[in-house]
Amino acid sequence: MSALLFCYGTAMKILIRNLPRSTTQAEVQALFEAHGKVQSCTLVMDSKTGESKGFGFVEMPKPGHARAAMKSLNGTEIAGNRIRVKKAEPKTVTPKAEETPDNARLIPETPTTKSRNVFEELDFQSTPLGDISLRRRSEPKLNHAIVYEVKLGDEFLMSSLFTESEIQLARLGLAALKSGPAYSGGSEPCFDIVVGGLGLGYTAHAVLEDPAVRSLQVIDIMQPVIGWHRQGLVPLGKALVDDPRCRLVHADFFALAGAQDNYFNGQHHDQPVHAVLLDIDHSPTHWLNEGNQSFYTSPSLQHLAEKIHPGGAFGLWSNDPPDDNVTSLLESVFRTCQSHVVTFPNPYTGKDASCTVYIASKAGE
Ligand SMILES: C[S@@+](CC[C@H](N)C(=O)[O-])C[C@H]1O[C@@H](n2cnc3c(N)ncnc32)[C@H](O)[C@@H]1O
Repeated sequence: MSALLFCYGTAMKILIRNLPRSTTQAEVQALFEAHGKVQSCTLVMDSKTGESKGFGFVEMPKPGHARAAMKSLNGTEIAGNRIRVKKAEPKTVTPKAEETPDNARLIPETPTTKSRNVFEELDFQSTPLGDISLRRRSEPKLNHAIVYEVKLGDEFLMSSLFTESEIQLARLGLAALKSGPAYSGGSEPCFDIVVGGLGLGYTAHAVLEDPAVRSLQVIDIMQPVIGWHRQGLVPLGKALVDDPRCRLVHADFFALAGAQDNYFNGQHHDQPVHAVLLDIDHSPTHWLNEGNQSFYTSPSLQHLAEKIHPGGAFGLWSNDPPDDNVTSLLESVFRTCQSHVVTFPNPYTGKDASCTVYIASKAGE
């Protein structure tokens, strides 16, 4: 999907990609100011590391200046990187003001004087993939709000502070189903869904919020992660475990999804499902485990697509900016693919951070 222009009043919003990670916001702004007035300039930062993600947005009030800047700067080399400058994507999903109650799930417990200086390691276990731990701690920068974090080795797998894109993975996937031929629009629940990667359960919980969902299998390779939900150690565990539509399955998602000639073994045995929503790797090119790489190829994705109903959808979460190669790969297997940039506030940096959700849809019958 290439980016498209959209306007704020008369201002044009421009997307700049492939910036060197060392380039600062002031430097980006200066590049555009050489072509006219800049109304705003935002460099998108990684929510976990606080470093630049190599892309950003500039708004220029005069369309003529914006066009001149795009023409002149697209393809320019900065510190060895050929930057790409385009009109900004119109389909950016930004949490709306009225969604604040959902965002409040980011901070599941109201801070009290008792929650000051909390640090608890709720579990620590050695697994074949490395040591995994669950921590519950207060965050001094957020008025001592309580945060849950999952760590695998030294890497953060998931934090309850950043859940908007995980929730949007579910909502965008279900929205694609409802606008497709798999949906008859009746009042009976009709969708069977698979989520790859349980984590803290935000994607799964958002799936279950939709009454059109008949069944949900959440596949996770880590038995401890499933155990935390069953024991109610994590905020959404009880809601998932108590919902009769939801099954937590201990398995390797990639082994199930990439296998030939069998379906996901769910409540509706030997049936294709309506959507598969995947949030396991950091991105399709930055894997949690090197062995996952082969999943992101046409043959494996073809096996996955065979387990999805005609008109069904595959949603894929990525911590990276939209990547045309990923879109093309998904388009080679599915009928369509759209990339959605999900932006959300990062309370550590005071700026917006973003992730990408790809939604690929199968052709109807
Ligand atoms: C980033 S978390 C998922 C976050 C989740 N979307 C949420 O809303 O909290 C990734 C999860 O994938 C699981 N995982 C890692 N490798 C896996 C595999 N091969 N198959 C299934 N689950 C896997 C991890 O144990 C972890 O729970």
